[in-house]
Amino acid sequence: MKIFKLHNVSSSQAKYLQLAETVRLAIRQGQLAVGDKLPSVKSISEDLGLNRHTVMKSLAELVAEGWIESVQRVGYKVVPNLPIEKSKGNSQRQVLSNVIDSLSPIDFRFVRSGSQLPTYPANDFEYNFSGGQPDLALFPFDEFKRCMSNVLSRPDEAKMSYGQSAGTPELIDQVKIYLRKSRAITDREIVITNGSQEALFIVAQLLLQTGDKVAVEELGYPPAMSAFRNTGAELVGVKQDALGMCPNDLEAQILKGNIRLIYLTPLHQYPTTVTLTVSRRMAIYQLAAQHKIPIIEDDYDHEFHYRCQPLAPMATDDPAQLIIYLSTFSKIMFPGARIGIMAVSKAMVKAVTEYRLMICHKSNVLMCVIT
Ligand SMILES: Cc1ncc(COP(=O)(O)O)c(C=O)c1O
Repeated sequence: MKIFKLHNVSSSQAKYLQLAETVRLAIRQGQLAVGDKLPSVKSISEDLGLNRHTVMKSLAELVAEGWIESVQRVGYKVVPNLPIEKSKGNSQRQVLSNVIDSLSPIDFRFVRSGSQLPTYPANDFEYNFSGGQPDLALFPFDEFKRCMSNVLSRPDEAKMSYGQSAGTPELIDQVKIYLRKSRAITDREIVITNGSQEALFIVAQLLLQTGDKVAVEELGYPPAMSAFRNTGAELVGVKQDALGMCPNDLEAQILKGNIRLIYLTPLHQYPTTVTLTVSRRMAIYQLAAQHKIPIIEDDYDHEFHYRCQPLAPMATDDPAQLIIYLSTFSKIMFPGARIGIMAVSKAMVKAVTEYRLMICHKSNVLMCVIT
């Protein structure tokens, strides 16, 4: 039997790979059928002017992939269990390719949808007024580069591995100190996430299901809304004014039933920047505690303040342990760093780290070993 013309897949490709592709194609197109014996190594190499070792390497590749098998005292044969369709008169020769060629692309059954980025890239404008964009010119890139190169020049294998799904322990320790000193947050379990968005998504997945309601600020942060809506939950916009979310309206919504989560940006309401007054915070907290509803406190830009020191987060005074405190390094480093912080109760940390194991077996390792 003559071997077919060498199928020149790409001139830069190794000869043994080109030969393998030729044989694969011959099987798919029916020139070689199930059980057919291949020409001997000698004749293939003579026919194609290839070194015997090249031919052997190619055949070994095809054996490993499951196209052919090596049979003692016979040589190489096409394996018997390729999915071959037997049809009229032409039984054995109707091969895989016929089946594949007759297929049209399937329609996926998407049972969830994602969200979309805005269609106006910031770079298209001379001035960018969109919120939440740190001035990267102020970031100490040289210092950052030194830290990165320091880490990579003496890699610690243990830290480069999967690690713990709550994040790198050293980073967690540093974050605890930072939260205690700069925000008076103590006695909380820390999880490092890929930005606060991952934290919002995980909390939504853990606490919400179809038919639930989430009380959100009437004007709110769209990515958080998408994460909540994705669970099948309904968003209930609570009225807000110059002092922030209105507790009276929140109470009215709670009394209608089924509010399972409250989402707040109390320090700087997104997008209005209003700071929720202390008395309103207390009223909202009391309502949540009375109705046993967790609150996500999204403290995304704590370090930014102008007239006075920022108010302490609601998480600093949380006897009912209902606050799920989220923060981020996106504003003081850069959003691409994707380092978010969750500071939560013991019950919540267990659920979060276990859930997180399914989607991301650790936070961003290179960023986090820098500490
Ligand atoms: C309300 C709010 N939450 C969270 C974030 C931060 O998100 P991430 O940590 O995912 O970058 C932002 C950033 O703009 C924000 O405006």
